[in-house]
Amino acid sequence: MSKVVLKNVTKIYDKKKVIDNIDLTINDKEFVVLVGASGCGKSTVLRMIAGLEEITEGEIYIGDRRVNDIPPKDRDIAFVFQSYALYPHMTVRENIAFGLKMRKIDKATIEKKVQEAAEILDLGEYLDRKPKQLSGGQRQRVALGRAIVRNPKVFLMDEPLSNLDAKLRVQMRSEIKKLHEKLQTTFIYVTHDQTEALTMGDRIVVLDKGVIQQADKPEIIYNEPANTFVAGFIGSPQMNFINAKVVHGGVKFEDVFLPLEKDFSDRKEVILGIRPEKMVCGGEVQFEANVDMIELLGSEKIVYFTVEGKKCSAKLPAECDINHTLRLSIQKSDIYLFDAETGVRI
Ligand SMILES: Nc1ncnc2c1ncn2[C@@H]1O[C@H](COP(=O)(O)OP(=O)(O)O)[C@@H](O)[C@H]1O
Ligand SMILES: [Mg+2]
Repeated sequence: MSKVVLKNVTKIYDKKKVIDNIDLTINDKEFVVLVGASGCGKSTVLRMIAGLEEITEGEIYIGDRRVNDIPPKDRDIAFVFQSYALYPHMTVRENIAFGLKMRKIDKATIEKKVQEAAEILDLGEYLDRKPKQLSGGQRQRVALGRAIVRNPKVFLMDEPLSNLDAKLRVQMRSEIKKLHEKLQTTFIYVTHDQTEALTMGDRIVVLDKGVIQQADKPEIIYNEPANTFVAGFIGSPQMNFINAKVVHGGVKFEDVFLPLEKDFSDRKEVILGIRPEKMVCGGEVQFEANVDMIELLGSEKIVYFTVEGKKCSAKLPAECDINHTLRLSIQKSDIYLFDAETGVRI
């Protein structure tokens, strides 16, 4: 069993709380993605699990073992970083074997493990090359190979694809998913990229300022965001937020009245959330807006406009004919409502 449990974990650096009382259970064989903006504490969480960083308060378990006082090398984890950190003077084979050699594993076992890893990662024909003779994607695969040969209970990956170009990133995304299926091991993967999170995670943990905002399956994170932070962070272009006044029987923004079944008369204001891809061109007109800018993306176009002083966008089919004014309609069921003060979804 290689589940990972964080109980009330807090990290304070120089009197500043960067991880605030995190409770999280990562199940055996699960692929969990920790996602959030730069500086929110993702690497710190991973480094605490690895034992590279002391925890200020709380407990961490790997399997059934409390690891607070266990050094990194005895935690049965493997860490893959953004920088591949390969030894330039060593061949691929030597790079993959290095950690095992340091542990004085016998030569035959090392060779067997290197061959296995090379096969899984499709590196067989590159074993005698030096890192500089490899592409970025191949180098990252060598870094993965180095982790695989250690048979860890848990793989920890900190933005492993950030150094790759866009096309390779997409390819490596699915390779890492396949690797997870083959190895049947727990993966904890850190990224700032919401697309990576949505496409890779069995479960996504959204972090902001050291606090878990939501932890759930990708489709739930996308369809049922807990608050404006999650709603705004996951999805591209980001969800539109419009401040609306609560009036009898519904809400109002600009001169648009939106009838709502739920009664919000105990509030003055709510925030409406509408995904750009849920705005429809033409059809039943709900409101009009002046177009600020149009970005053509081939099959689609992103149209930017302003509502109640807030920048908004709509993702529309490229053939949609747009002039200076935009008529948009929205399905009522596609509108999210958030508390105007706390941002919590209501
Ligand atoms: N060794 C350190 N000393 C002091 N502050 C640190 C240290 N490492 C990270 N921090 C701070 O902790 C916060 C979280 O950092 P980090 O976990 O690296 O974020 P992320 O990986 O999400 O970008 C940041 O504000 C960062 O400046
Ligand atoms: Mg980081």
